[in-house]
Amino acid sequence: MAKFTAARLQEILARHQPAPQTFVETGTWIGNSTRLALGAFQKVHTIELSEALFKEHSPGLEAKGAICHHGDTRIELPKLAESIAEPVFWFLDAHWTDQCAGAVFGPLPLFDELQRLSERTYPDVICVDDVHSFISHRAAALKERPARAKLFAENPDWNRVDLPRIASYFPGHREAIIIGDQAVVYR
Ligand SMILES: C[S@@+](CC[C@H](N)C(=O)[O-])C[C@H]1O[C@@H](n2cnc3c(N)ncnc32)[C@H](O)[C@@H]1O
Repeated sequence: MAKFTAARLQEILARHQPAPQTFVETGTWIGNSTRLALGAFQKVHTIELSEALFKEHSPGLEAKGAICHHGDTRIELPKLAESIAEPVFWFLDAHWTDQCAGAVFGPLPLFDELQRLSERTYPDVICVDDVHSFISHRAAALKERPARAKLFAENPDWNRVDLPRIASYFPGHREAIIIGDQAVVYR
């Protein structure tokens, strides 16, 4: 998991104005990016599949103003995509990394998320985190990391994430760019 900083978030937001006022994150984990978003957006939602992580971290995050959802992003994200009638910054981070203790690892939800978001008509920003974990790690690090190689082999979707594919869900987008470890599409 690469570090997503306040400076990086501001860099991404500054490229196209006005920036969305609402942030939706998939994959809360311990709430690092949720807390960061609380300093930059009027409304912050976050979705976590792990019941243990949700129970441990949602009280503190909600006390700071976040709206925490427990469940699978493939079920929870469509509800938010339907109900939020304004531009949203979607931070798609519900994927496995070996640096997130307690994280649930299952089928990659990213393509379902992108499909649902493609049906929205707002000038959203779609930000996929850890894009180099998908792109370069699998080539370089796999050799040294047999456990990760096995997971990639068993989950072929993880081998099919790159910027052109992410951007292809959003024809006519304003811009698609990799900034640091984030793949960003501006609709
Ligand atoms: C990379 S971590 C998120 C890191 C966090 N956004 C941060 O920056 O601090 C991925 C998280 O997604 C969760 N997750 C995995 N699959 C999920 C799914 N289908 N729905 C919701 N959360 C999921 C994992 O349990 C894990 O906590």
